[in-house]
Amino acid sequence: TPVPPFDLVIFGAGGDLALRKLFPALAQRNREGVLPEESRILAVVRKEEDVEGLPKQIARRLDEEGIPKDQVEPFLRRLTMVMLDALKPETYKALKKALGDSERVRSFYLSTPPDLFIPICENLAKADILTPTSRVILEKPLGRDLASARAINDAVARILPESRTYRIDHYLGKETVQNLLVLRFANTLFERSWSSRDIDHVQITVAETVGLEQRAGYYDKSGHMRDMVQNHLMQLLTLFAIEPPNMLEAGAVRDEKIKVLKALRPIVGPDVQRFTVRGQYGAGQIDGQRVKGYADELGHASNTETFVAIRCEVDNWRWAGVPIYLRTGKRMAQRYSEIAVTFKPVPHSIFGNGGGDRLDANRLFIRLQPNDGVQLQLMMKVPGSGRLKIVPRQLDLRYSTAFDERTPDAYERLLTDVIRGDQTLFMHRDEVEQAWSWVDPIIAGWQDYYPHPHRYAAGSWGPSQAIGLIERDGRSWADPDLV
Ligand code: BG6
Repeated sequence: TPVPPFDLVIFGAGGDLALRKLFPALAQRNREGVLPEESRILAVVRKEEDVEGLPKQIARRLDEEGIPKDQVEPFLRRLTMVMLDALKPETYKALKKALGDSERVRSFYLSTPPDLFIPICENLAKADILTPTSRVILEKPLGRDLASARAINDAVARILPESRTYRIDHYLGKETVQNLLVLRFANTLFERSWSSRDIDHVQITVAETVGLEQRAGYYDKSGHMRDMVQNHLMQLLTLFAIEPPNMLEAGAVRDEKIKVLKALRPIVGPDVQRFTVRGQYGAGQIDGQRVKGYADELGHASNTETFVAIRCEVDNWRWAGVPIYLRTGKRMAQRYSEIAVTFKPVPHSIFGNGGGDRLDANRLFIRLQPNDGVQLQLMMKVPGSGRLKIVPRQLDLRYSTAFDERTPDAYERLLTDVIRGDQTLFMHRDEVEQAWSWVDPIIAGWQDYYPHPHRYAAGSWGPSQAIGLIERDGRSWADPDLV
């Protein structure tokens, strides 16, 4: 479906996310001719100087993103600057005036800290700005625990129905994540063996090399569990594990996702010591450069975790007995995100132990970034007429060589999905709340049983305890250099 004419209002337009992701994504869509002629982007800022300053900053960002110069001006022409204080109802008059009485689809993107979600929604309603097709887009994190997420969801529900509420998790907009559903449900080969019958275990890694960046205030209060696990990692796990929805449609997909989240075995109380690992980076080296430890970057000591590993189990018919290991952190050795599926070994080796070769299990690597693609590890005979030699080799399908098309950024897809009214790649409130229900007891357990994160050197793969977590089960983390 084509994108209908729209007015997109961005709260927090001068913030990091808007500048880094939202404006470049919109400019890219504009360049492709996807945005209807009369559509507008209304950038909400709080300070007078931003009214002049922000368009210049956006122009610089677009330039950095490689948007051609002759495309920047036409994009900026869509921009309307609006000065408003999110907490002051009387200032919403400016927004009401800028929106006028157009029939265009109105979307309100709340790219702000979550404590502003409720006041913004209330003030939008008070100012009588919402139309019958208006929708609101909520950026993560959606609250900081189940109670605050519920309060936000309730407040939003008072002004808009669930069908017009879009909760973003940008991982769902990534090509490789969408491809996970295609891989599973458009190929007979995998789905038949996608269960405890054939799968030994699963690893989900999201490793970053960046540290605190400019987000100390937010990140130190949240920690890595809330910043990455509650949303991105749990979404990956869920899509990996869902039952086949009867069609690719928001309701059907979301129903299946919720079932998986509900089946996740709780980790409560002292169990956090057995099944989770918290870490915080110390000084170290990234790409040959010395970098500071977390506390030094922050300027004071802190018990906030920058690394989390968890051994999860999904207690349902399909997955009973298959551990899913999650691992994610800042300042790790490489930027590398992947789902690695290890199949069970063959039941009996006809090759005996004669050659002394170990038969490795088949492994499927779904690589999100970098080098996105899919690799399948098979055992192969080394050519030669001497002794039989068997080694693992990879079937390697990379996006960059398999397709000519450019891989769009996640936000390009998600922003136009909102305007088109497609909720498939957004989270239902029940999903978000269910994810918090699983995460909250772990964070509470940490306070009681695991208050101090383990230290790891920046540029490593996290604390040694994370290696212990998987090795205790006789398994090991996949080697990112294998792929
Ligand atoms: C964000 C987190 O949601 O995702 C950041 O708040 C993190 O801390 C980012 O750096 C990672 O996203 P990506 O797309 O670079 O993997």
